[in-house]
Amino acid sequence: MLKGKKIVLGVTGGIAVYKAVDLVSKLRKEGAEVRVVMTESAAKFVTPLTFKEISGNAVAVSMWAEAQEFNVEHIALADWADFMVVAPATANILAKAANGIADDLLSTVLLASKTPIILCPAMNCQMYDNPITQNNLKKLADYGFIIMQPGTGRLACGTSGKGRLPEPAEIIAFTKNFIAHKEGDLQGLKILVTAAGTREPIDPVRFVGNRSSGKMGYAVAQVASERGADVVLVSGPSSLIPPANVEVVNVETTREMMNAVLAKYDDMDIVIKAAAVADYCPHEVAEQKIKKATDDALKIVLDKNPDILKKLGELKTKQFLVGFAAETQNLLSNAAEKIKKKNLDMIVANDVTVAGAGFNCDTNVVKFLFPNGEVKSLEKMSKLEVAQALLNEVKAARNK
Ligand code: PMT
Repeated sequence: MLKGKKIVLGVTGGIAVYKAVDLVSKLRKEGAEVRVVMTESAAKFVTPLTFKEISGNAVAVSMWAEAQEFNVEHIALADWADFMVVAPATANILAKAANGIADDLLSTVLLASKTPIILCPAMNCQMYDNPITQNNLKKLADYGFIIMQPGTGRLACGTSGKGRLPEPAEIIAFTKNFIAHKEGDLQGLKILVTAAGTREPIDPVRFVGNRSSGKMGYAVAQVASERGADVVLVSGPSSLIPPANVEVVNVETTREMMNAVLAKYDDMDIVIKAAAVADYCPHEVAEQKIKKATDDALKIVLDKNPDILKKLGELKTKQFLVGFAAETQNLLSNAAEKIKKKNLDMIVANDVTVAGAGFNCDTNVVKFLFPNGEVKSLEKMSKLEVAQALLNEVKAARNK
């Protein structure tokens, strides 16, 4: 997919610059031609020579000093590229791009470019969470920049949080998704996917939750987006990086998920509910951390949460509604009952006791059930393959 693509890689000055070297190497292995534009501060972390050797092209750093080396106007880099990637993108370059500041080569190329630009923010988590940075990211998204969410985990500064530059393989997968999106067979369809588990707070530090990682739902969102659909991903807390070209709505509780889904529902053609939704929430949420009880047991009263999917089934007009069923026994009868009770067009049943199926693994073993009683059993396969098969079924069923 990247073969023959011309990519300008912008590299800014963060500790993650070392990953950009590997990114260039991997992009070239995929057949892409890469030209690197570095900021002066990026050049303090890794020398331009390194990028020159790895990319096989001259590296541009300064607006003035190296102009003649290229036999190409610096600004022409913006026209040469099929698309641009900035990785790592510091808070500084995001702020410049969001506000039209062009005071060095990279910011000038970004402002001059008419090609799609993928930004991969990477920075200290407090800088990332700062409302100024968040505002800039929102502005950039509104201007049409494609933002790859940073990863969560331990950062170079010693703290933990959101702000890690994704691995080069993840950036490449994101980039491929972005390219595929323009050519897929699900163009024009609006698909809402829910993923991961909802969490119900007990007190400021504890919650009632489940083992869902989000892998199944994110795989569906990724494949749907790669096949050209306009995808909204409503996700409970997850450490996964959302796929490209997907609108992400982050939620925590079941009620938040319900509100987010209902807000988009009327507009959707297809809804796929892979999330593991907490059926109950604590009757009361303690304002302060609950101290260890002096007697043996701590009793928490749980109230029933709304059933989002059932509500969607009741409100259904044009939407094709797909549920998931996570079962530990009576897989087929329980799943079939959910189709009826929730007015679904299809359900994906997984027995979560089977090895390689269900929660937090990369594979799944599923059966597709339909309202007419038809059952299709799939072998164990990757969650991405399940997502492909699922979307094929949805497409076929909608065309009947
Ligand atoms: O995220 P992973 O680690 O990859 O794991 C994948 C998975 C096991 C979570 C996924 O494959 C799966 O089975 N998701 C559905 C889990 C679930 O909540 O099943 P359920 O049988 O309890 O619910 C049936 C359906 O109703 C689901 O589509 C669920 O999203 C929905 N539901 C459930 C309860 C509720 N209050 N509201 C709902 O909308």
